[in-house]
Amino acid sequence: MRKPILIANWKMNGSLHSNQALLVRILAKLRPLRKTIDMAICPPFPYLFQVRDLLGYTGLSLGAQNASVAASGAHTGEVSATMLREMGCRYVLVGHSERRALYHESDRDVAARFRQVLSAGMTPVLCVGETLGEREQGQTMATIERQLQAVIDETGMADLAASVIAYEPVWAIGTGRTATPEQVSETHRTIRQFLDGCQAGAGEALRIVYGGSVKASNAAALFQSPEVDGGLIGGASLQADEFSDIGAALASTLAEADCECDTLD
Ligand code: 13P
Repeated sequence: MRKPILIANWKMNGSLHSNQALLVRILAKLRPLRKTIDMAICPPFPYLFQVRDLLGYTGLSLGAQNASVAASGAHTGEVSATMLREMGCRYVLVGHSERRALYHESDRDVAARFRQVLSAGMTPVLCVGETLGEREQGQTMATIERQLQAVIDETGMADLAASVIAYEPVWAIGTGRTATPEQVSETHRTIRQFLDGCQAGAGEALRIVYGGSVKASNAAALFQSPEVDGGLIGGASLQADEFSDIGAALASTLAEADCECDTLD
């Protein structure tokens, strides 16, 4: 069975003061769920150290929002995967649509970053998704397959299978416009079919999470489908109650909640 995962993408938000206040409240509410669902917080790079310390041994993992295409060297302003690993990161987002659109990261760039993250011993969270125009032109799967294929060409299916995939339709990110549970479920299912076609069983084994205007009010409906293994949360991850309620909604989708999850050891 695929263990659900909830990932907070703080994007370029936060301060030393607000991070601490946010995490204290999030941890109080979400720590008890740690055996039921995996959870990770992806703060901006300068706050990795602070967030690592606050997460400590709570069972929540540290993640980063990107990693360089290069292993080291003359790349001013970049951060390497090995540095992130050294900081205690377990997950790294790659190919977020804001990186692709605003910073012109190509499919090949994303694949190179994916490889760096894996080589450094972390789990890439590969973000894929179509624009509104692509969806309206019936190009949703063509776009996603192109994005996946670039990584498969770079690393092979075995390595892709070691990742988490985040389906984030560009038109639903930060817009308040959420994909319907049916659209999400269908797209996840089609991604699995595509991956199964590349390697038998690969799609079934992989965790695919949804991102795009997930809120406490729509989380339960989005997570209801067995195709949806969790969420990648932007804006709502900056509000302790919203994010905690999303986590609770994800945990409650599991038929058999781990009874140990109520303990605070
Ligand atoms: P929002 O939840 O703010 O729409 O952002 C989604 C996202 O981009 C997460 O990576």
